[in-house]
Amino acid sequence: MQPNEYVLLLGADQYLRERAFSGAKQAVDLPVWAAAEDAVRRLNRTFDHMLSADPKDSESLLGAIRAHSARGWHPRVVVPLNDWTVDSANTVNRVLGLGGLDATAVTNARNKHVMKQALLAAGVPTPLSRLVESEQELLDAVEAVGLPVVIKPYDFGGSGGVVLATTREEAVAGLAESKGVIAQYRSSFNIVGDKYLVEQFIDSDDEASVEVLCGAGRAQVLAVTEKYLSPRPWFAEVAHLVPSHRTGDPAVTGLAERACTALGIDRGLAHVEIKFAADGSPWVIEVAARPGGDGIMDQVERAYSLNPYRLHIGSYLGHGLLDVAAGAVPTRTSAIAFLKASPGRIQDVLDGKPLPPEVRSINISAKRGDLSHAAKNWSTREGLVELEWDELFGEKTQLPVIVAKELSDQIFVTGGAAVDE
Ligand SMILES: Nc1ncnc2c1ncn2[C@@H]1O[C@H](COP(=O)(O)OP(=O)(O)OP(=O)(O)O)[C@@H](O)[C@H]1O
Ligand SMILES: [Mg+2]
Repeated sequence: MQPNEYVLLLGADQYLRERAFSGAKQAVDLPVWAAAEDAVRRLNRTFDHMLSADPKDSESLLGAIRAHSARGWHPRVVVPLNDWTVDSANTVNRVLGLGGLDATAVTNARNKHVMKQALLAAGVPTPLSRLVESEQELLDAVEAVGLPVVIKPYDFGGSGGVVLATTREEAVAGLAESKGVIAQYRSSFNIVGDKYLVEQFIDSDDEASVEVLCGAGRAQVLAVTEKYLSPRPWFAEVAHLVPSHRTGDPAVTGLAERACTALGIDRGLAHVEIKFAADGSPWVIEVAARPGGDGIMDQVERAYSLNPYRLHIGSYLGHGLLDVAAGAVPTRTSAIAFLKASPGRIQDVLDGKPLPPEVRSINISAKRGDLSHAAKNWSTREGLVELEWDELFGEKTQLPVIVAKELSDQIFVTGGAAVDE
């Protein structure tokens, strides 16, 4: 009897990751399953079935998978969609002999300190850094790296706890702030969160992220996304636009591909973040062994008429798709920008006015009575807007940020004392 097989997606039952299901269906004609800790209370009907298991925890997943194996259902492969499932998905793949990333590649992609050593060893430009835990180690690192520095947790994401410090005093305060962010999120994201990187600061607001399809010893860029950041000293992502005007620039694509092979990522899409110094030189800030988050994949799909999850999941299934990535051509521009109320108590949310024609979707998450803080990371957003234009921009456009600001000012009425420390 043929075994009943399924593809297990981890992190796909998440807002802005919905298109992963469609990508999986395009990649293979199999049932597509997801996992949630309490699949009875959190049943997502999009999926063909849901395992009751913690998607971040390989033991929990193996228990649920084995219970279904006893009933004749076997996973073909387990595919991670976010940082918190890269380790668990690939541990399950290895234990069950399903392929997957090797443990070194997972560590290279999840521990920013180890990542930087691997990048430097391969000659990939990345800011110098030191790993610290205590205040004294921090001050020694500031001395060694030189001010200004960026302080960041070594295994978190979403720009949480990433802070710029221009003085020793700001560095001490920055480490305390970063530790506070980790204390708040450590357990829900299942991270260790015991150490912090102190990094040389690349002083520029020019930044891109690159989606790279990885293969054994090879990599191929699919898309380059232009990134827009909040005012300093934080680095919240406020918008992403696809395709970036840098698309096709070999200095960018070649570097992104080298970064992936340096880390040993041999399957799936990787998300490479590159910052451009004042002289234009590119520096790899980090690499994630999963597709970009924040709805970037949906912008890639609209700009290229190609669902990138199909490539990510197909690659985990062993399909050779580098040529498909190489042949993808953008025909329009698509962007996502985050809504931001001015800091203070939100007194009213005025939705329902006519929207500009380029608006493809809008989602307001804040309610009357909520407190709005200055943009620090993903948690300080009040909603999002997606935009679409028929043209391709030849240079960096500020349109996503401008439209999001106009809409935010129109929608959110904030009053009372500013609450930002
Ligand atoms: N050394 C640096 N020099 C200049 N800017 C930096 C540096 N390190 C981080 N940044 C800025 O901070 C942002 C977030 O840092 P990083 O990507 O390391 O953290 P993260 O929490 O994994 O981010 P995310 O998940 O939002 O991509 C970067 O995109 C970049 O804008
Ligand atoms: Mg990042």
